[in-house]
Amino acid sequence: MATIQAAILGFGTVGQGIFQILNERKHQLKQSLGLDIEVKAILIREPTKSRMATPGVMVTDNFQDIEDIPDIQVVFEAIVGEEPAFQYLCRSIQKGCHVITANKVMFSKYGLELQERAKRQGVHVGYEATTAGGVPIIKTLKNLLLVNQVHRIQGILNGTSNYILTQMRIHESLFHDALEEAKVLGYAESDPFNDISGQDAFRKLMILSTLAFGKQPNWDDVTIDGIADITLEQVQSATREGLRFRHVAEIIEEQDGSLHASVGLRLVDPEHPLYAVEGVNNAIALDTNYIGTLTLIGPGAGKFPTASVMVEDYAEIIGKHAQFLVTL
Ligand code: HSE
Repeated sequence: MATIQAAILGFGTVGQGIFQILNERKHQLKQSLGLDIEVKAILIREPTKSRMATPGVMVTDNFQDIEDIPDIQVVFEAIVGEEPAFQYLCRSIQKGCHVITANKVMFSKYGLELQERAKRQGVHVGYEATTAGGVPIIKTLKNLLLVNQVHRIQGILNGTSNYILTQMRIHESLFHDALEEAKVLGYAESDPFNDISGQDAFRKLMILSTLAFGKQPNWDDVTIDGIADITLEQVQSATREGLRFRHVAEIIEEQDGSLHASVGLRLVDPEHPLYAVEGVNNAIALDTNYIGTLTLIGPGAGKFPTASVMVEDYAEIIGKHAQFLVTL
């Protein structure tokens, strides 16, 4: 049986989750795809940091070592930030590799370009994990857009923010204590600035905008507020009034085709669809012409939800590719 050779770029929470799931589901993946998978190399940033054991796998802090391996076919990328992730993925595509990314900061800016490069090289880009963790919003949107038009997307797109707001309300936690918990649980980024400033939700909203509307609004025109200034007193006062704070990202396409987007805190009442969305969950409501409003809810962050959708991307891409090879 043929074996797909893979590399993992970035071996933090998500990278380790990919490695673990690929090992745990090896047999099932082999059965459903008719192909084995072997992680050949892992790119790390800090050689001295302790990490899970990966026997028989090349571990390097030099991307060139991975690029030099001739038979890598799939690259999983779980690095933080635009660069060097974008360059690494361009070089991987150039080599003929399929790429699967969780990197929302990079993908919100370079997603279209990466997909164009991949198309030219006859490979695929999987990006389900860039937006809303384990919630299958990308594949749902792609499918739905075959027939429907989307007019508005509204949702909770940052798991850390929703977790903090929930902890403050239910347990009367202080903001910083709840944030520390979100870090320990693997929800927050190692530098949580993007989580609590609204930037993370904004980048995910831009990825959804590109997919749903084929374009993004001018970034400078989008109001982006986070949750960093909220106090326990404000949360308690909202609770007394029967309301809840939610961190909401929204984009609307007007009749003339213009896009209006915003990211920030909102007070919602029990009738609102986001009122019941608690903890690390994300929710995305899509207003469409034929279906009406469709809402997806599920874990928006965390090691296994995020890593598992990357492995699903792998199975989908390799499944399609294997079919293509058979029909040839
Ligand atoms: N830090 C992100 C969040 C991880 O809390 O939503 C998932 O993108």
